[in-house]
Amino acid sequence: PNPERDRLLQAYEWTAKFYHFLLKNTEHGKAAMDYLRSRGFNDKVIDQFQIGFAPDRWDTLVQFLTKRSFDLHEMEKGGLLTKRHDSEEDYLDRFRGRVMFPISDRNGRIIAFAGRILGEGQPKYLNSPESKLFNKSRILYNLHQAKPSIRKLRQIVLFEGYGDVISAWEAGVQNGVATMGTSLTESHAALMKTMADEIVICYDGDRAGQAAAMKTIPLLESISLNVRISVLNDGLDPDEFIQKYGADRFNRQIIDGAVSTTKFKLIYLKKNHILLEEDGKIAYTKEVLPIIAALASSTEREVYLRELASELQLSFESLKQDCNEIRQSMQKNM
Ligand code: UTP
Ligand code: MN
Ligand code: MN
Ligand code: MN
Ligand code: MN
Repeated sequence: PNPERDRLLQAYEWTAKFYHFLLKNTEHGKAAMDYLRSRGFNDKVIDQFQIGFAPDRWDTLVQFLTKRSFDLHEMEKGGLLTKRHDSEEDYLDRFRGRVMFPISDRNGRIIAFAGRILGEGQPKYLNSPESKLFNKSRILYNLHQAKPSIRKLRQIVLFEGYGDVISAWEAGVQNGVATMGTSLTESHAALMKTMADEIVICYDGDRAGQAAAMKTIPLLESISLNVRISVLNDGLDPDEFIQKYGADRFNRQIIDGAVSTTKFKLIYLKKNHILLEEDGKIAYTKEVLPIIAALASSTEREVYLRELASELQLSFESLKQDCNEIRQSMQKNM
């Protein structure tokens, strides 16, 4: 038994309920509710994810917790409050004027919050600090709700953001999780491996998101997870894609249409080159041939070499010859 831990869990549970109530039933929550509606979040999903609002005041939560006899110092250590700079005993609400997304552990106990500013401003998301309960590098947002779907499909869809997970859930993708604004760690990967055989990486369509996907592939493949990647264009993130094109197209094009890691690498590297120019063609070929040459299956190698040949208007034979030479020198070096 750990009484301090239990008190903190109790505080998080009640605080989440309180913020959810303020969002839905009070004047304080009105602007936040309008904001959520404008983003396409309906009442059902606001309930499902227990979304809330922390009013733009200094002591809303301080008063709530005081009335319930919580130790404010403990609550500060646990990340719900902050200390006033100029005082030892005065505490302030950590989250003010933010839409609150509760973060749960895999058993569904709330252990942290992410608070989004309404509209523009910095930081866009304010997370709870690490605490006795909350270790970012082990937590996946929405895992507790996604578990049944993950177990059934043996597949996880990995997103960058909370909004992506929530919109995807509404669109019928209920095996989605997200990291807490950090890159995927080895412990995240190991945890996913206990539940699934395949990961669909569905990161933002901007450069940062696609670069993060490139970085995540080897981490997942190193523990023999099958990986496919969603390709989002025009810099859209999954949430924006769903709002713009709808659930059906998201399911078909982005989830079902997620590509192999090899295909994704070819698409990703292509963006650095102008394929209409000889130099660009040659440089691109030099980058991608080693990737194809490293594939164990000769059928797979042939598939990608044929695609490459037709795309670059080169002969399959010359690509294959270069590929074989690279493969031989790779095998010599092993
Ligand atoms: P994005 O910048 O892509 O935000 O960061 P988003 O999820 O699309 O946010 P919306 O749609 O504008 O509300 C992706 C993720 O990075 C983390 C959050 O987890 C966010 O969901 N992040 C981003 C932070 O932790 N802090 C920030 O200030 C920004
Ligand atoms: Mn509710
Ligand atoms: Mn992003
Ligand atoms: Mn995003
Ligand atoms: Mn977004």
